[in-house]
Amino acid sequence: MARRGFTVKKNWDNPVEHAMPAEARVAAAVRVGAVAVRPATVLAPMAGVTDTVFRRFIRHASLFSGGQRTEIRGQGSGVRDQTAATAEGIEATISNTESGCGLLMTEFTSADGLARMRESKRRRYLTFYDDEHPIGAQLFGSNPETLAEAAHIVEETGFDLVDLNLGCPAKRVVGCNGGSGLLRDLPRIGEIFRAVRRALTIPFTVKFRMGWNDAQIVCVELARMAEGEGLNAVALHARTREQGYSGQARWEWIAAVKRAIRIPVIGNGDIRSPEDAAAMVAETGCDGVMIGRAAPANPWIFRQIAQYTATGAYETPTVEDRFGMIRTYFEMLLAEEQATRDLPRDARLGDSAGKMKQFATWFTHGVPGGAKLRAAIYQAHSGAQVLDEVNRFFAARAIDGAGRGAGAEPQGDGAIEVWPDAALVCD
Ligand SMILES: Cc1cc2nc3c(=O)[nH]c(=O)nc-3n(C[C@H](O)[C@H](O)[C@H](O)COP(=O)(O)O)c2cc1C
Repeated sequence: MARRGFTVKKNWDNPVEHAMPAEARVAAAVRVGAVAVRPATVLAPMAGVTDTVFRRFIRHASLFSGGQRTEIRGQGSGVRDQTAATAEGIEATISNTESGCGLLMTEFTSADGLARMRESKRRRYLTFYDDEHPIGAQLFGSNPETLAEAAHIVEETGFDLVDLNLGCPAKRVVGCNGGSGLLRDLPRIGEIFRAVRRALTIPFTVKFRMGWNDAQIVCVELARMAEGEGLNAVALHARTREQGYSGQARWEWIAAVKRAIRIPVIGNGDIRSPEDAAAMVAETGCDGVMIGRAAPANPWIFRQIAQYTATGAYETPTVEDRFGMIRTYFEMLLAEEQATRDLPRDARLGDSAGKMKQFATWFTHGVPGGAKLRAAIYQAHSGAQVLDEVNRFFAARAIDGAGRGAGAEPQGDGAIEVWPDAALVCD
């Protein structure tokens, strides 16, 4: 795959001077209406994944300050220790000194459901914390009035923007004409754009696929409609509905959309590494990048993109970092479970053990002995037990002396070799 081989010249002695060529740089910021997305990176909406705990976890893992610094590794180069001064140099060249993830998105939420839902249940879907700004809420549905009503609820709740889902391929959603089902009905999309735009004062964006199938590619026309109806940005997952998650995302369609409109275009599909993000920008000219499946496998990816953009190099996690990351996320899940325990059932986080098991699969790849840890986690009956297993596993590793130093982890080419199950869909 030629584009995956995209590289930039690096010079370790002066990373700032030898930063990424402008055409491959993920922008320091993109303005979506009144919202500054800084840097121009977006966590993709992912049902069952991007709840408030995961979103905050990603923001936390993306912080430039306070995180553990490990070795910096450049593609094709050896590992070199970087001094604190170099780390500060990296931060000084990134306009957002807070986090490498510029915008968080919720899981998609049914507009019908939201309009009908009890207040308590709404709280579960629309809960976010102050440190999540800027944050967008994604809605799906097919009725313009209901979507407008739901969008209004989202605005009242304090979100920074509303996003419309025109990409979900799940039969259950398509069956009610939602998600990618609407791609076959552009006039209806026009009505929805107008109704929701009227209902909102905050920015309004749309995330869509290229079209229903190769015979009906509508993304350029759709993007023009979005611009014409006053939407503030578009995000394209460059696959058709029929493609599901198969094959490769066809970035040339992101380029085509970018050429057609002036509002910001966020590119999405198959970014697994900072090199991929740079390649997408270079190939498409997109104003920002959106990352989905790579985020649960590699929560550092946003910070890595910012570092790579600034210097042509980025940090890769050690086994200890991975342990810290697993523990942090699981502790956050337990804390949220505890904090919501006395709320009505609808508003609770739910089963933290179940979430932990789901995430353990993704998180423990790349950890030597990870299969053993996963097996132990699957046997656990509560979140607290899962956390105990994680602590025990890594304590034993520390006693063994395993995992100390960069050599203990299979590093490959610096990219984390994890890919969540491609069969996952958004329902
Ligand atoms: C588990 C899962 C859930 C998803 N849920 C949503 C969703 O709620 N809304 C949406 O627009 N896209 C959803 N998607 C699609 C992603 O946002 C993204 O467009 C897709 O995964 C391609 O990007 P990636 O290659 O970076 O993963 C989901 C994807 C996955 C894997």
